[in-house]
Amino acid sequence: MMAQSDLYMDYHGFYLPKFGYSVESLNYFESFQVQDDDIFVITYPKSGTTWMQEILPLVLSGGDLTPVLTLQNNVRVPWLEAKLTAQVVPKLSAPRAFVSHMRYDLMPSTFFSSKAKVIYVARNPKDVVVSFFYFHQMASFLHDPGTFEEFTDGFLAGNVIFGKWTDHVKSWKNTDLGDRILYITYEEMIQDLRGIIRRILCFLNRELSEDALKRVTEQCQFKTMKQNKMSNFSMISPEIMNSSKSPFFRKGIAGDWKNHFSPELEAKFNAFISEELKGTNITFPWNE
Ligand code: A3P
Repeated sequence: MMAQSDLYMDYHGFYLPKFGYSVESLNYFESFQVQDDDIFVITYPKSGTTWMQEILPLVLSGGDLTPVLTLQNNVRVPWLEAKLTAQVVPKLSAPRAFVSHMRYDLMPSTFFSSKAKVIYVARNPKDVVVSFFYFHQMASFLHDPGTFEEFTDGFLAGNVIFGKWTDHVKSWKNTDLGDRILYITYEEMIQDLRGIIRRILCFLNRELSEDALKRVTEQCQFKTMKQNKMSNFSMISPEIMNSSKSPFFRKGIAGDWKNHFSPELEAKFNAFISEELKGTNITFPWNE
């Protein structure tokens, strides 16, 4: 599996890019002391992580835009398993918010005994693979994706960072977390961002005035975030993330897969995902 050994390390049978992760950062992750008021946004890559790194700090700040205008996204809501996190965590104030791409079974042991809450964001896997494909073109720490069809084959087989999409979804859709977990989809965020922010407020027992809710919703629009240099990765060197190849804030829509999948590829993709999800009760609004 590790044909790309210069770029990747192996972690529980899937790839992690050496650029962002190390043995030390993963040790830190595994022994992380989760606190009861911690909040985790869990996503498979390309499912709305950066979007939630904008929404959550604004929900927690009561609509004050300062955190998202002054702190880079990985500093205000760090990736729990990534390299920079150990330096950033001491500077976070409670309640702390994190993002993570890890499967449920790989979460730190203290997570399971805590009362920490989870927001799980899922996205139509066909749009995930499209977004991922372009991300591979712009990110020098990921392998050359080849053709879209080749990349999709690799995606289905789990030969991408963080492994198979279906393994991720299955693990997080079958937890003992009860009302500690809120499920939302990228498509719901596209359709009704304001409504989703309200759901997050309710889940976290927070409130925003109508004015603040309007301000937060505007700040979290695709067009606004694309211009926010604390969120749009423009501070990262083009040698690492080259937005002239494909911008990180690429399209921000639901259904771009229709511009990329041939009918044959779509049939193959659907059959594969259905087979992988067989025997589970997992359904999504975009299950067609
Ligand atoms: P596209 O490549 O389809 O445009 P992640 O942050 O998990 O890596 O996901 C990145 C995807 O989320 C990209 O999708 C990006 O454009 C999209 N995204 C980020 N912020 C968004 C927003 N405010 N509205 C809609 N899509 C957003």
